[in-house]
Amino acid sequence: MGTDQSASHLQIVTTADGSNTIYNALVGENYHSRNGALQESLHVFVQSGLEYFLENSNTNNNDVSILEVGFGTGLNFLLTANVCTQQQINLIYTGIEAYPLTDEMLSQTGYGQYVPAPVWQSMLQNYRASLKSLTQLNNYVQLQIAPTALADFTSLIKYDIIYFDAFAVAHQPEMWSEEAITHTLKFLKPGGVFVTYAITGNLKRTIKALGLKVEKAPGAPGKREMLRAVSNISRQ
Ligand SMILES: C[S@@+](CC[C@H](N)C(=O)[O-])C[C@H]1O[C@@H](n2cnc3c(N)ncnc32)[C@H](O)[C@@H]1O
Repeated sequence: MGTDQSASHLQIVTTADGSNTIYNALVGENYHSRNGALQESLHVFVQSGLEYFLENSNTNNNDVSILEVGFGTGLNFLLTANVCTQQQINLIYTGIEAYPLTDEMLSQTGYGQYVPAPVWQSMLQNYRASLKSLTQLNNYVQLQIAPTALADFTSLIKYDIIYFDAFAVAHQPEMWSEEAITHTLKFLKPGGVFVTYAITGNLKRTIKALGLKVEKAPGAPGKREMLRAVSNISRQ
């Protein structure tokens, strides 16, 4: 992976639903599905992650904390922040990102058209501050981006939901290793929900071995299935 995110290896491309994504030529991979970036983000993370958690959790639904692995363009964050703002849910969102994009790249995605202007503007205006500390974007939403590799991430808090949005296993196998998944799941609360767009035998086995209940859920366009796992037990 290259670290210079202003470099020419990053290119905005349009996906099948008309929404943009970024193609990283060094990795040979897109930030989202070419079958539809917006649809993937809404389906895998917002509907199958956030909305599933809100419908099924036993705890109060006025507060939710989310950890994302691979913050990238912030599309998953933006759509999540919009739902939480509309439903008056307090959101604490931490995005882990080893190679943060420039402000220019972020604004060039055109994702402002999918959320009300104040949500979009608050993300752009607070992006730099969020890379340094937890930042309040509006009455309901707080964002922190941890500019670090997943393996080096630590946290004093645990999260209700984990959005696992690493590059595909064929391009970045180390992000899907037993070690990486075990490290990630240390940050999930009992009763928490882990979602990702992919499902493989290895991933299922690793997550089951950690004591979570694994479900196949219908996938985003172009993928038959995705993985959702629910943590029922307390892990250290
Ligand atoms: C599939 S993209 C994420 C897309 C993102 N969720 C979005 O909505 O734009 C994967 C992301 O993981 C980041 N990444 C790559 N290696 C990483 C690592 N070791 N730790 C944390 N993030 C990493 C990449 O820079 C990229 O932004």
